[in-house]
Amino acid sequence: MTQRYYLTTPIYYVNDVPHIGHAYTTLACDVIARFMRLDGREVKFLTGTDEHGQKVEKSAAAAGMAPKEFVDRVSQNFRDLAAQMGYSNDDFIRTTEARHIRACQALWRAIAANGDIYLGHYEGWYSVRDEAFWAEDELVAGADGKKRAPTGADVEWVREPSYFFRLSAWQDRLLKFYDTHPDFILPESRRNEVVSFVKGGLHDLSISRTTFSWGVPVPDAPGHIMYVWLDALTNYLTAIGYPDTTLEFPRLWPADLHMVGKDIIRFHAVYWPAFLMAAGLEPPRRVFAHGWWTNEGQKISKSLGNVIDPLMLTAEFGLDPVRYFLMREVPFGNDGDFSRASMIDRINNDLANGFGNLCQRVLSMIAANCGGAVPTAGTLADHDKALLASAGVLLADIRTALLSQQIHIALAQLWGVVGEANRYVDTEAPWKLKKSDPGRMATVLYVLIEVIRHLGVLLQPFMPASAAKILDQVAIPVGAARSFAALAAGGLVAGTPLPKPQGIFPRHEPPGAPAAAKPVKGKPPLQG
Ligand code: MSP
Repeated sequence: MTQRYYLTTPIYYVNDVPHIGHAYTTLACDVIARFMRLDGREVKFLTGTDEHGQKVEKSAAAAGMAPKEFVDRVSQNFRDLAAQMGYSNDDFIRTTEARHIRACQALWRAIAANGDIYLGHYEGWYSVRDEAFWAEDELVAGADGKKRAPTGADVEWVREPSYFFRLSAWQDRLLKFYDTHPDFILPESRRNEVVSFVKGGLHDLSISRTTFSWGVPVPDAPGHIMYVWLDALTNYLTAIGYPDTTLEFPRLWPADLHMVGKDIIRFHAVYWPAFLMAAGLEPPRRVFAHGWWTNEGQKISKSLGNVIDPLMLTAEFGLDPVRYFLMREVPFGNDGDFSRASMIDRINNDLANGFGNLCQRVLSMIAANCGGAVPTAGTLADHDKALLASAGVLLADIRTALLSQQIHIALAQLWGVVGEANRYVDTEAPWKLKKSDPGRMATVLYVLIEVIRHLGVLLQPFMPASAAKILDQVAIPVGAARSFAALAAGGLVAGTPLPKPQGIFPRHEPPGAPAAAKPVKGKPPLQG
């Protein structure tokens, strides 16, 4: 049976314009989703928008619009971003859809049937910006002396009738679950943070509000609107048809991966598994919390005016180089800093001088010296076999890295083989063999083009358009021949005609700079 892989991004609040943070979370999922598809799994990749709650209601009022009119417009921005960034999501969920209201109410009823919901009175601090309740001892004093949430957001005192979820009763079961599922939360530092939070004791959670109306009505409780996080988290079930067991739900639940930012780990790793277990459902298999980006060393914020627009970034540097930079620059899980200098550095060093140079040297030598067709290999020496073997084990290594969301490691492994192949070109110096030993030259070039085929196939999840160009140039037709299964199935066939080589990874030249020197015809572009 085909293995399945169900992965999700957080659903984005529609009070904001899409920025690099949103593009980043979805990009990481896109890379993993593409990898899993090429690896033969049945993939469901979900993203969408979080459209209820006080925060959105307020933003709509500030824009002078009715909430529904507002969310319809802003949700479209996120849908457009996904399309413009070429994300391969299989569904885009909106929490204002009928299928979602139905799922939320079904989940509520399942939790209530288990005796984990009771009616009470909520009195305490609430932050609309975080859509979160904060305990007195979690608050900090702001510069103006006012109490604030630990996130810096304003808090207000609220007092209203409310339904509660018996979260306190789940403390031991949650701790046991973390214990028996050591990989449920990654990276480990986040896991430790969550475990110590839960060990510190859990309060029952207010899960309905009566002072606003923009949300999912609590079933059989007029005037009560579901807490927006219970509503939002349920999207992961809605999208697979919950509660309808004739749809994808029984096959795709539990989800394999919820990708989230570090700021929303508590909701996903504490509340969500407790809600699910209370409803008799399994928690997801993995919650991975990635870090946050700063811009040239500064926190990104609307008020500082330094928000990075992903579309401007890709317009300047190109989509694939931006994908590469975001996934390679920072160990996935850590915070990272965006700087133009490091972006340009990656483009010129890793892409142009590294991978680009490898393709250009090899393909132009084949075009000039092997009649523009895949060369015929003679007997392979041990070091030829060693290079082919390095390319051959990449798939397994990258798979292992991606199954624990080590996206930067996967790329480092790929580039490790790029480096190895470039060194092999230097030491074998095929341009010298042209006269002295043309048979050996053909063997060396065959080994190299076969390595390029591997690299091109494996690059697809990370840089789809560039990988497609590489694969076009080594004459691998679109379709099954580009899947991972084809890697081991067979090498390039000698004599296959190849198209005229073209540059894959151009250097980034500052506007107005003279164009890079063109290689002299017949000589390899770079030998060192
Ligand atoms: N609506 C909730 C999620 C509900 S999921 C059931 C929400 N939305 S959000 O739009 O505020 O944030 C979505 C994601 O963007 C989070 O994972 C957050 O970490 C990420 N980012 C927002 N700013 C970011 C950076 N500067 N850097 C990296 N990611 C950041 O929370």
